Amino acid sequence: MIFYFSCTGNTRWAARQIADATDDELVFIPDLEDSAYTPSLQDGERIGFCFPVHGWQPPRIVRQFIRRLNIVDAERHYTYALITAGDTISETARILRKELAAVGLPLHATCSLLMPESYVGLPFMDVDTKENEKHKIEEAQKKLEWFIQQVKACNKGTESLDIGRWPRINSRIIGNFFHRYLVTDRPFHVDTERCLRCGLCANACPVKNIVGGKGQTPQWNHDGTCLSCFACYHHCPTHAIEYGSRTKNKGQYYFKKEQ
Ligand SMILES: Cc1cc2nc3c(=O)[nH]c(=O)nc-3n(C[C@H](O)[C@H](O)[C@H](O)COP(=O)(O)O)c2cc1C
Repeated sequence: MIFYFSCTGNTRWAARQIADATDDELVFIPDLEDSAYTPSLQDGERIGFCFPVHGWQPPRIVRQFIRRLNIVDAERHYTYALITAGDTISETARILRKELAAVGLPLHATCSLLMPESYVGLPFMDVDTKENEKHKIEEAQKKLEWFIQQVKACNKGTESLDIGRWPRINSRIIGNFFHRYLVTDRPFHVDTERCLRCGLCANACPVKNIVGGKGQTPQWNHDGTCLSCFACYHHCPTHAIEYGSRTKNKGQYYFKKEQ
């Protein structure tokens, strides 16, 4: 079974390839009930966790999901993680390992893929150039093929991670600050003149935090579920969604099939 989370499609693209190659079932974490969860697994079945890095940590929804997991005979399963990031993951895999250990799951193989950047919520952050997006996807494809072989063979000890510099400072100090103060839907607003009321933003939100389908202007719930993933911003066909003034004149990105 493969549990995955994805906002702009990078991780979905990778998780689907693993599922196709292994025939393992793909489960989108937000589709599961918000309560204790005991998946029905075969004896020794592979368990995969695929998700993007958010603020040099696993996204909050992934951590909360793992805490609700109840795996029978956890130590008999082969467990692996695929983490996508725009640049570096710092201690994300380490944090994941700790979360999994708390529910009795070992982590046998880890891999990170550098994929197109999706975070645009700070003044100095923007999407990659089109050439860089293409280059990253080509490189990620090669690495993913290698990792799929590792997973199919249930190899233990596989680790290929883009940890980068200052992992402790990034994941602990900056990461905690990021999750505490910068993960919020408060700055999102829509330019009603440019908004087509197409509903694409609400459909793209992985945590269903936006009220507003076709024919409606989007409204964010402000109920603490938003992960500031910018899926709404990136999917808007007219760039009508802004995050304060921090996204003015910035690019948009989401993974498209033809990429
Ligand atoms: C809220 C948020 C925080 C992010 N933080 C990081 C980060 O700390 N390091 C990094 O390299 N990329 C970061 N990124 C970029 C994503 O991890 C990267 O683009 C990922 O492949 C997106 O996957 P998805 O399309 O499946 O959502 C962040 C993106 C978002 C939306």
